[in-house]
Amino acid sequence: MEVKVFKDKKEASLFAFNYFSDVLKKNNKAVFGLATGSTPLDLYENLCNSDLDFSNATSINLDEYYGLSSDNEQSYHYFMNENLFKKKPFSKSYLPNGEEKDVEKELNRYNEIIKNNPIDLQILGIGNNGHIGFNEPSSPFDSKTRLVDLTPSTIDANKRFFNSIDEVPKKAISMGIGSILESKQILLLAFGKNKKEAIKNTVKGPMDVSVPASALQQHKNTIVILDEDAASLL
Ligand code: GLP
Repeated sequence: MEVKVFKDKKEASLFAFNYFSDVLKKNNKAVFGLATGSTPLDLYENLCNSDLDFSNATSINLDEYYGLSSDNEQSYHYFMNENLFKKKPFSKSYLPNGEEKDVEKELNRYNEIIKNNPIDLQILGIGNNGHIGFNEPSSPFDSKTRLVDLTPSTIDANKRFFNSIDEVPKKAISMGIGSILESKQILLLAFGKNKKEAIKNTVKGPMDVSVPASALQQHKNTIVILDEDAASLL
């Protein structure tokens, strides 16, 4: 993996934006793997303010909370609509359906979507414990889409978005690490001091299931895009 350190989140996000734009300019039918969270917000804002046209492109999101309806303001459906799709509609945008009672059917549906739409560029954030998507520590590196239990540390990190910790969903549907690794190119973004341990373990640590993002060490086209705080232990 290649590591690029920028002065701040703004400069780092600009690099990610230019990279994203180049992929779309080369292929207007490109498939983008998208992430939620605060990390890609500047990237999405740049995309919204650009003159790029995504009407032939496809997006596939990493994950969705299980048990939240898509119009719930904390759902990833809502997040993506608000922060990108309202302004920049894609030809097709896929997210896991967190309301589907037949989980097995939903997992199969999503795995088929990923299989039929190979991802050209995958955007990733990272959790404080090194998770990518909602692939928590001990997720197998060859995993496909599945229902996952969120760890106490992830539930705690996400409680800031909810009225109380009891409202934070305890499960999610997440694209697996195996599918993420099949993406042609990957950009992993991390900003701020909270991410410095996870980034150190991802980049310098052994490749181990205790740090899900360390799986990216085996991917040939991954760029880790950091601000100085996130890079401070490298
Ligand atoms: C959630 C998402 C991840 C994201 C992580 C970090 O757990 N499932 O995809 O990378 O949050 O969020 P943030 O960017 O807000 O730090």
